Amino acid sequence: MFIPATLVLFLPAVLSHIEESASPATECSLYIAPSTIPNAGLGIFTTAALEVGDRVGNDDLMIPIVDADLYMGEKFSWMIDDYTWVGTSSGLGRESQRQNGVNGFGPGLDSAINCNLALLNVDRKLPRWDDGGLHRKRNPGAGAITQYSGSVTYANTKIPAGSELFKHYGDDWFKTRPDVFGNIPLSGDFVKANVLLQRFDSLHLREPVKRSLYNLTVTLPFQGRTLNALPRYEDISQAVAQGIRSLHQPAAIRSIRDLDSAGRCLDNIRSGRSIISEAGRGAFASRRLKAGNIITGSPLIHIPYEEMLLMYNADWNVDKNDYDVDSSKIRGRQLLLNYCWGHKQSTVLFCPYGGGINLINHNQSLANVAIQWAPDGQLLHNATWLRQTPLSEMEVEFSTKLAWDYVALRDIEEGEELFLDYGNEWETAWQNHVLGWKNYETNTSFAYYHPASYYNLDLKSPIRTKHELETDPYPANIELRCHTETINFSLDPSRSGINTAPTWQPPDEGCACEAIERVFHIDGFVYAVRFLYHDGQIYTIRGVPRAFFAFFDRPYTTDIHLPWAFRQKMMIPDEMFPITLKNLNDKTLQ
Ligand SMILES: *[C@@H]1O[C@H](CO)[C@@H](O)[C@H](O)[C@H]1NC(C)=O
Ligand SMILES: *[C@@H]1O[C@H](CO)[C@@H](O)[C@H](O)[C@H]1NC(C)=O
Ligand SMILES: *[C@@H]1O[C@H](CO)[C@@H](O)[C@H](O)[C@H]1NC(C)=O
Ligand SMILES: *[C@@H]1O[C@H](CO)[C@@H](O)[C@H](O)[C@H]1NC(C)=O
Ligand SMILES: *[C@@H]1O[C@H](CO)[C@@H](O)[C@H](O)[C@H]1NC(C)=O
Repeated sequence: MFIPATLVLFLPAVLSHIEESASPATECSLYIAPSTIPNAGLGIFTTAALEVGDRVGNDDLMIPIVDADLYMGEKFSWMIDDYTWVGTSSGLGRESQRQNGVNGFGPGLDSAINCNLALLNVDRKLPRWDDGGLHRKRNPGAGAITQYSGSVTYANTKIPAGSELFKHYGDDWFKTRPDVFGNIPLSGDFVKANVLLQRFDSLHLREPVKRSLYNLTVTLPFQGRTLNALPRYEDISQAVAQGIRSLHQPAAIRSIRDLDSAGRCLDNIRSGRSIISEAGRGAFASRRLKAGNIITGSPLIHIPYEEMLLMYNADWNVDKNDYDVDSSKIRGRQLLLNYCWGHKQSTVLFCPYGGGINLINHNQSLANVAIQWAPDGQLLHNATWLRQTPLSEMEVEFSTKLAWDYVALRDIEEGEELFLDYGNEWETAWQNHVLGWKNYETNTSFAYYHPASYYNLDLKSPIRTKHELETDPYPANIELRCHTETINFSLDPSRSGINTAPTWQPPDEGCACEAIERVFHIDGFVYAVRFLYHDGQIYTIRGVPRAFFAFFDRPYTTDIHLPWAFRQKMMIPDEMFPITLKNLNDKTLQ
């Protein structure tokens, strides 16, 4: 997904020979295959033409990676940063009280869709809160899966069959990498360039004046992102008629034959609720899969040292406005560990991404799918790398070099749940966890608990006032916050009114507040609040309606932070694990 230093976006589309594949070779409609952006690795392609609003593939999970840079310190850096979003943009921000302390990793389509600003065609919905039906008092699986899921990818424009999908990474992604991207046109520049072209065209100039003027425009002695979005002179008439986008589109299309030979199908798996009670979500065959066939494949993000996922005890230091980390006391491990594979004789972790693969649960007796290394050169898999690369080289490598396939071990019927064998160590760890969990079940320190979503869905109950909280407190994990717009109730009385409602959309996280008084109003209650604004001042604001309040889970209180939440990497079979990466011997473990 990383986009390299090519100027591909400026160049008019070079029409390679695109085959009109009349009869599709397979029924697969979604692929992961080499991107049409040179050196950008893999991308996602649709072989079905899509209309605005059409859903693409499975929903994504969003795995919070909490304060990893704080815990890793200067010691490590990792490639997964290129595959994650700032947590606040997906509503994960309050998993930490550090500004931008949380990143979100979506190991499905989210990690694989590239960004080509000239051809943006999909968007992703924000993840929803979903505990997978697991409750911390009842289910040993609680805290072992992410509670952010349901992030749907959908077409935001008509997409022709065969096209690569492109999603906006945000203009900042490009602006903060000027050495790589220079004056690359940003999304708005293509809009502006289209307008510019229309105006240029409406001048009705004759040759050669037209050509000279155009030439002058695009070679003006200053650099501009919009100027860089303008097409070649020869392409003006098409760009005027069909938009600049139409010039780029042909180069972003691959034939079904290419996709089938160089890529992997992504719609053989659909998600559902697992038949295994503690597993939450599961993967199901969306069509009949034959024994020995490749179901899908995934590139692997590597993490050279498992200790990069360690989390330590930390206390919030008000003066420093940051945590003081005590790196002698381990408090747990990032949830990400549960989504990665490794080996008992190695520190390395491989975290796969792709369509639905993270939904495949473990069951040794039901296993009907196995992993195997992808053939050399496919899905960017480099077999040389597997044979010869020591860990020290992986440490400084920030792109994916390895990939594996998921193979059907027997014929699988449509609708059957898919299972992998995560290995004996995993099985043992899980059995021990279930046994040990009985001791935690009775721990009273987490007895009174409700996730914030429970209160946010209940819009009827009034907000408890400071006075009421003395006898009827909210659970300790809950934090009441007021929308930043609350400040305007004091500054601009004309805005106040019961029917004013702000939108609570990430990255909105509001400010800490408390209700000091509840006043009956003909349309519902309004509140007097004490509100700690960003300027550090406390304001008392009156007439604030319910819609300005939202509940958040306090940092480090959601299920993933339960001290006993299950954490275990999945195990790569010994016979396929590269010997060069075995940097531990069994004895050094435990
Ligand atoms: C555009 O202008 C440059 C510099 O004046 C000139 O070298 C070039 O031939 C011109 N190109 C066209 C297509 O007129
Ligand atoms: C695997 O499936 C069997 C049969 O459904 C079930 O009894 C067993 O508990 C499952 N194992 C795990 C680890 O979930
Ligand atoms: C595979 O990796 C090796 C070692 O890093 C490298 O020399 C070789 O060029 C790579 N092959 C391909 C096809 O990228
Ligand atoms: C309950 O869990 C907390 C947090 O891990 C721990 O400090 C405490 O000792 C546990 N209490 C009991 C009774 O096990
Ligand atoms: C307050 O209102 C003004 C004008 O409506 C608006 O520009 C500003 O963003 C608002 N401030 C906050 C913190 O919402």
